[in-house]
Amino acid sequence: MNPTTASSLSEPLAWPEGGVARVPFRVFSDAEIYALEQERIFRGPIWNFLCMEADVARPGDVRTTWVGETPVVVTRDQDGKLHAMVNRCAHKGALVCLKQKENRESLTCVYHAWNYSLDGKLQSVAFRNGLKGKGGMPEDFDPSKHRLQPLRVATFCGLVFGTFSEETEPLEDYLGAPMAKFIARNLGRPLKVLGVHSQMIHNNWKLYAENVRDSYHATLLHTFYTTFKVNRLDMDGGIILSDKKWHHISYTKRATLQAEKEYETVHAGQYQSQLAGPELLRAWDEFDDGITHSIQTVFPTLVVHFTLNSLAVRYFVPRGVDKTELYWVFLGYERDDAAQQRMRVMQGNLTGAAGLVSLEDGCINEFVQRGTHGSPDEEAFIEMGGKVAESNESSRATEASVRGFWHGYRNIMGFN
Ligand code: FES
Ligand SMILES: [Fe+2]
Repeated sequence: MNPTTASSLSEPLAWPEGGVARVPFRVFSDAEIYALEQERIFRGPIWNFLCMEADVARPGDVRTTWVGETPVVVTRDQDGKLHAMVNRCAHKGALVCLKQKENRESLTCVYHAWNYSLDGKLQSVAFRNGLKGKGGMPEDFDPSKHRLQPLRVATFCGLVFGTFSEETEPLEDYLGAPMAKFIARNLGRPLKVLGVHSQMIHNNWKLYAENVRDSYHATLLHTFYTTFKVNRLDMDGGIILSDKKWHHISYTKRATLQAEKEYETVHAGQYQSQLAGPELLRAWDEFDDGITHSIQTVFPTLVVHFTLNSLAVRYFVPRGVDKTELYWVFLGYERDDAAQQRMRVMQGNLTGAAGLVSLEDGCINEFVQRGTHGSPDEEAFIEMGGKVAESNESSRATEASVRGFWHGYRNIMGFN
């Protein structure tokens, strides 16, 4: 079967004039474009986040996940080697692994009991020789030609990535040096998973990809941020885009809010926002770079956030053109003491499905989905901070990283 091409869409997509500062609403609701994304992006020359290395720490560990809509299973074999394969039986295509996590000696499909080794090779076929000399597989049946389809796999700082394409560059080149360095800042110590959950959001996956790159909305939509001075646009901070512009880092330095200090001196005692549990925000300095809040993305669907002392990996999985499952993996470090771990768990309440800060993101993207899906020929206007996608280390009043996402998206999709 020939892969769909951009030009073979039944109605070709002409990107609006205005380039990356415009986004045609059609890309959020068009089933053909969604199908093309599966081919061009998720099965294309990119690295997809699969799971945490902690999920598959021991020999025999098995973790199911997704690459776009394709079910995938990650395993660690008895020699300690990691493998990633399509979680789809070579017989009739049933899911082979059904649990999110388990420990197994081999993988057996429940339908007709075909059995695979942890590296995906077909080991045995039930009734291969039939019964009493009757039935069974033909003479020319060759088990070595029927295995679970493998992905290339690579790890970085406790994150496991996979790719379907032989053309994908090495993982660290894909990330680029500034992105790799910042991931190493946050995740480059032995990690401990503190908890996980997921939520279904009723919007196209790209609206969430935009949302986490959108530093403009953070202090407007999320009033908890500004009310309790966790993140404001007048704090020092900036945006760094990767070379290809499709990954980004947004960072804030809460401690350097000089204007806030001056305001509090002048207006001392007149007004104070107070939490009943102020200890929620009593963070300790984790690093010596002054950064107290950061969000980093890796194209297409990985996010790492560090808000005060709350560290988490998020990833999102398309579940249809207008539905996305968003996963949260809350993390601490192995070296944390009990008080630090307690603080990380408590500050986990800032984010997540019901988070004090990120609750609103669960619905705002749906508002865009509902507002746009009936008007495919209209377009979004994203010129805050300029019309191009460039790093800006002096202001976060910009949509530069959103434009960066569309720059990468258009290139890989062939939408010029
Ligand atoms: S579908 Fe898996 S053994 Fe038949
Ligand atoms: Fe948000």
